Amino acid sequence: MKNLTEIERHALIDLANEARRRAYAPYSRYRVGAALRTSSGRIFTGVNVENAAYPTTICAERVAVFKAVSEGEMDFDVIAVVTDNGGAPCGSCRQVLSEFGLHTVVLIADGSGKLVRETSVDELLPSAFRPDDLKSGA
Ligand code: THU
Repeated sequence: MKNLTEIERHALIDLANEARRRAYAPYSRYRVGAALRTSSGRIFTGVNVENAAYPTTICAERVAVFKAVSEGEMDFDVIAVVTDNGGAPCGSCRQVLSEFGLHTVVLIADGSGKLVRETSVDELLPSAFRPDDLKSGA
């Protein structure tokens, strides 16, 4: 797990918070922004994108991950997630993050930019089902 400086933490939280303004959340009104930094130093932001057919909504974290993977980046150092109240990433986003590494740092911040929790994918999703789990099957 990467050791981050205060400047690095807040730079990513600020980017996620800024992205949050572009969230498309007319139904829940719960705006989420994410900023994902790869080991190569690139940063991909994401926002939640809701839909009138509610279950087709996608979370901010997954948008950021899918943007990165679609640009050829799969090695993640850290993701910052910002919501009004400092809510934690959902189970589906934890699962998607776990595919690419358990040591990715997860910064959870509130709308004022305050870091409420610094954790890791490992800690958020213990005993994750991972690519290796497919190998021992039938
Ligand atoms: N949401 C996220 O973007 N990330 C999460 O980890 C939790 C939930 C979004 C989905 C939906 O647009 C809204 O927040 C309320 O659930």
